[in-house]
Formats: sequence, structure tokens, C-alpha cells
Amino acid sequence: MSKPKVFVTRIIPEKGLDLIREFCEMDLWQDELPPTRDELLKRVHGVDGLLCLLTDRVDGEVMDVAGKQLKVISNHAVGFDNIDIPAATARGIPVGNTPDVLTDATADFAFALLMAVGRRIPEAERYVHAGKWKTWGPKLLLGVDIKGATLGLIGFGRIGQAMARRAAGFDMRVIYYDPKEVKLGQNLKPERVDFETLLKESDFISIHTPLTSDTRHLIDELAFSKMKSNAVLINTARGPVVDSDALYEALKAKRIFGAGLDVTEPEPIPPNSPLLRLDNVVIVPHIASASITSRDQMSLMAAQNLIAGLKGERLPNCVNPQVYR
Ligand code: GLV
Repeated sequence: MSKPKVFVTRIIPEKGLDLIREFCEMDLWQDELPPTRDELLKRVHGVDGLLCLLTDRVDGEVMDVAGKQLKVISNHAVGFDNIDIPAATARGIPVGNTPDVLTDATADFAFALLMAVGRRIPEAERYVHAGKWKTWGPKLLLGVDIKGATLGLIGFGRIGQAMARRAAGFDMRVIYYDPKEVKLGQNLKPERVDFETLLKESDFISIHTPLTSDTRHLIDELAFSKMKSNAVLINTARGPVVDSDALYEALKAKRIFGAGLDVTEPEPIPPNSPLLRLDNVVIVPHIASASITSRDQMSLMAAQNLIAGLKGERLPNCVNPQVYR
């Protein structure tokens, strides 16, 4: 019997690829850069399954060009704002994602950014590399304190809660804003507050919410105007949750102390972005989940979702379970 045809839009870790090779006839996109829109439309034509990345916009057109035999879309990410979920659901196509396996890697990284910005580590490193280190200085590169500070979490799902656990080790007070009622994990006693209170009381604000029409530019000029002047903003969620023009103005005017961005708007950040000229921002290329184990597990989970969909089985992690009703 012939194997189902799938298109995989980038080279993912071998663990996932091995599994896909075993069950499928795989067309694997080999370039470092994602397929262009035209290339994506060309390569999906006639496939039974699509394994895509957050850099691929998968909308109704992609699904229709693929054809009626398309049985599954598997995203190699926990976030799925790159996929038109209502369009997939309307066509009865289950969409998979990769939750849990990247929670700790992402929270570790968000906390690392929080410390790096708060204690100005990248800025201090640039200072040393530039040959500016002349002596020990009582007021040299002073940062903000972490112990005892208030950490405000926007979004209190898996990654937000993992941040709260890390913060407990630093004796931080943790507050969170989440429009949804959250069932708290063991040993977590953070306080749920409204958005305005979170902005006003937090020394560190870390974003852990998906990108939706409600959260796009949630952190805008007004939000920055309510933050403390020593506030540090960390974003490891999605770039467009923060209005980047407002962020630039807030950082430039030192309305806030600093920001750490794993994600930007747009991505990649253009080399001429004014944000890149500021000292009080640390920007890295969307790598919060990039630990070896986490990426191995993501590739495996994405492959398992893909194969389950091809076999007509329920996806182990499905974001639109309505397709099964
Ligand atoms: C990364 O940003 C992911 O959504 O997995």
C-alpha cells in the first residue's frame, strides 16, 4: 500500500523526521528560510498531511489548494496563530500543536531574560568588549532588584505558572492577570488581579498569553503610561502583543527600565529598527523553546499528531477538537 504524502516545511529534529519517514512519503523543505507563499501553495498540492512551522501562514487558500484529501495540519509549535483555525474546522481538518514539552524551557528562558535585563548583563558585556572597563565603580551599571520584587504575569497557563514557580525561589511576590479562571497548580498561591493593577504594581511584567484579536497590542502606549518607572517587560509569547512603536517610545524616554524580547513585531526584527539602537532592550531571535530536549520532543509530538491525523485517529494534541463532534 502506498504511504500517505506529506509536506514538511522545514528540517525539524531527526526524532520527528525519523517517525515521519517510517509512515509517510515526505517532501521536506530543505532551505534555512521558510517556503515563500508561492512555494508553499505549490508544494501542498495533493498532500494528505502538512507539518508546518509558526513562520508559515496556513489559511483557507492553502487548505483548498492542498485539496479535499488533506487530513491533518500539524504545527511544530505550541502557539497556532499562524493557522486559520476556523477555516480548518470548517473543512473538518484537525490541527495539532506541541504543548507541555516546551513549558520549562520557555519559562527558564523568560526568567533568564528577566535577570539579564534587570541586571543589565548584555549591556555590561558590551561595555567590557568595547574596552570601557577602567575600574570597579560604586555606581557602575546598577540594576533593579529581583528578590522581593513583584512579578506580574499576563496569562497564567502552563508557562505563566512555570514562571511563578521560578519566582518563588527568588522570594518574589507574584500577581497575574488572566481573563480565564485558572485552576492553580500545587503550591501556587499567586494573586489574581485586574489588568490595570498588574500594570501599576509589577516590577517585572512577563507575557504568556496567546496572540488573539483581544491580545494584539494589549501593551500599548496607555499600558506603558501605567507601569512603574523601574518596570522590566519580558515578552516570550508573540511580538504583536506589544505595540512596538509604543515600546520604543517608552524605552527611549526611560518610562520603564528595560525590556527583554524573544519575539518581535515583525519577525525577524528589521535591521534598521530603532529598537536595536537602544541599550535598555535585549532582543533574541525567538529561541525560548530552543533547548535540545524541548525541540526533540516538539518534533516528536508534531510527528505523532501528523501520523494520528493521517490514520484517521484523534490527534494526541488537537487545538480544534470540535472537528470530532
Ligand atoms: C513558539 O513560539 C511556540 O509557539 O512553540
